[in-house]
Amino acid sequence: MLSKTILLLTTFALSTLSSPVNVSRNDSYGNQAPQGLAAAPACGPDPVTCRCPTGSFYQTSTSYSFYPVAAKEVTRITGHFLDTAWFGTSPNRTTGQTTTPGAKRYLWGDVPDGKSQLLIAEKLTQFTAYPNDGGYYMKFQMDDAPVKYAKKSGGKGVLAGSWDIVDVREVDGQTFMLWNIYVCFGDLFDFKGFHESAMKNVTAILKKQGKISSSAQMVGPISF
Ligand SMILES: *[C@@H]1O[C@H](CO)[C@@H](O)[C@H](O)[C@H]1NC(C)=O
Ligand SMILES: *[C@@H]1O[C@H](CO)[C@@H](O)[C@H](O)[C@H]1NC(C)=O
Ligand SMILES: *[C@@H]1O[C@H](CO)[C@@H](O)[C@H](O)[C@H]1NC(C)=O
Ligand SMILES: *[C@@H]1O[C@H](CO)[C@@H](O)[C@H](O)[C@H]1NC(C)=O
Repeated sequence: MLSKTILLLTTFALSTLSSPVNVSRNDSYGNQAPQGLAAAPACGPDPVTCRCPTGSFYQTSTSYSFYPVAAKEVTRITGHFLDTAWFGTSPNRTTGQTTTPGAKRYLWGDVPDGKSQLLIAEKLTQFTAYPNDGGYYMKFQMDDAPVKYAKKSGGKGVLAGSWDIVDVREVDGQTFMLWNIYVCFGDLFDFKGFHESAMKNVTAILKKQGKISSSAQMVGPISF
């Protein structure tokens, strides 16, 4: 099981993760970017080496867990884009259908040193249910980037884009869940802590619903 898992993770990591580089072209706001390495494309929905707009920098986080249940149980809790209760929030409003690309959710959230909460729009861009598995693959991204906001300490913060991938599938009778994000953000943000807390919530919900015993252990979350 472990080797299969590692293979799967390695394949996933190699195919989807990216690293930031220095840039030599101007960014999308028309600001002159530093002259550095060869030009990389602007960050977008394709997870390739990319550059963030001036004023923001690239951050990425990948977390995964194994749950001792069938994938359909994890899908039931996490696989509805417009239902965000499992990570402790409820959208201010939504549009579209919960598993149909184009659906949007508007979530209030805290930002580092922000004077007030920020309303962020996110759009579902891909949803694929795995046949005969009960799991799914989902991609979503900020829909209103860049969002600028006032900081308590003065000055402005900027969220210039975020791109998420969630992958839930059955592996040897357990359910593997992976959550990857990359963002262009002007401040450091603890995406790892947030995703791990949300993944632990899934276990808490499964226990509460009697889907797993109260002593059952998840493996993870593990982040890199
Ligand atoms: C990127 O470019 C800036 C400005 O030219 C430079 O100060 C910095 O060291 C470079 N960083 C890397 C990783 O090359
Ligand atoms: C980049 O920005 C600089 C300074 O604002 C400007 O002079 C230059 O023409 C821009 N280059 C491109 C390719 O847009
Ligand atoms: C986990 O659930 C609790 C409420 O049950 C919530 O307060 C918390 O924010 C959730 N964690 C995350 C990361 O959303
Ligand atoms: C959405 O946000 C607005 C503005 O703060 C608020 O007045 C409204 O009550 C919120 N609606 C819901 C359903 O949270």
